Amino acid sequence: MNTHHDSAFTVALVNTKGGVGKTTLCANIAAICADLGQRVLIIDADPLGSISKYFKLSREAPTGLSSVLRRRTIDAAVISNTTIANLDIITHDGEMPGALIELSAQFQCAFALEQAISSLKRNDFYDLVFIDTPGAPGLLQDLGIVPADLLVAPILPETLSVSEVGPLLNLLRRYELGAPNSRMSAVPCKAVINRATPTTSARQITSELRSQFLVSRGRFTLVNTIINQAVVFPNASRLRDAVHRIEPGPNDQIGPASTALHALVAELLPHLYDRLNPESTESQS
Ligand SMILES: Nc1ncnc2c1ncn2[C@@H]1O[C@H](COP(=O)(O)OP(=O)(O)OP(=O)(O)O)[C@@H](O)[C@H]1O
Ligand SMILES: [Mg+2]
Repeated sequence: MNTHHDSAFTVALVNTKGGVGKTTLCANIAAICADLGQRVLIIDADPLGSISKYFKLSREAPTGLSSVLRRRTIDAAVISNTTIANLDIITHDGEMPGALIELSAQFQCAFALEQAISSLKRNDFYDLVFIDTPGAPGLLQDLGIVPADLLVAPILPETLSVSEVGPLLNLLRRYELGAPNSRMSAVPCKAVINRATPTTSARQITSELRSQFLVSRGRFTLVNTIINQAVVFPNASRLRDAVHRIEPGPNDQIGPASTALHALVAELLPHLYDRLNPESTESQS
């Protein structure tokens, strides 16, 4: 599956805009994958540290991302365990400001996290790594994007938010121009409409987003699954749990937000598709 090294398949949640649902989707997609039996590691590259606080921890490592960046390796000393089996996290720890200052003076600083993830051999540790990135340009955003095999960009279905696709494409282009022969030129970016409401003019926004496909020479695509605005998302985050674990569904069935999240996982990571509950994917089609 992995195209550039033998380590875990790496997904980064990105957008040049804040508040679009990067952390929310990162946490919920990662938790679904863990519950599907994948060994999953989340890395918190956002200085707000939102995803570090998202899940309850059963064991907290003495340090986190600062140590990863300083040593350019990932080992047990930096990995915290969440209370969800198979779901671990490298937190955005208190030493990050110092570690970033040290790192920024180093050669190829933007590659430090990629190097560390490469030290994780897939057979030994994780199947999937999810990186939550900040919604603003800078070294942390670079650190999160460079190791990715897949970029996932949540987009709010509002005119203003859709117009942010331009800056997002510019961001991708910046990596291509900065290192034209690097594998970054081929990493796909999949946009997901998040927080859709019945009032949203979904068709117009969808066609606007799809038109970006040609502009981006095929690197940018829009997934079919739409994530609706639902109170279960903030509720799950308040309970520090995943949506699919708390959402009540009718008659023992999976709930609507969980159904959409499962469908999203199936679209983003088709190799996990067979493990999904067939009923949940059928109801989306
Ligand atoms: N589908 C949804 N339905 C309802 N609320 C949502 C949904 N997705 C996200 N939210 C809420 O929107 C807010 C912003 O989401 P989130 O923190 O995930 O965005 P972000 O892109 O990570 O923001 P930042 O750039 O600040 O890190 C949160 O309060 C979250 O609970
Ligand atoms: Mg966030």
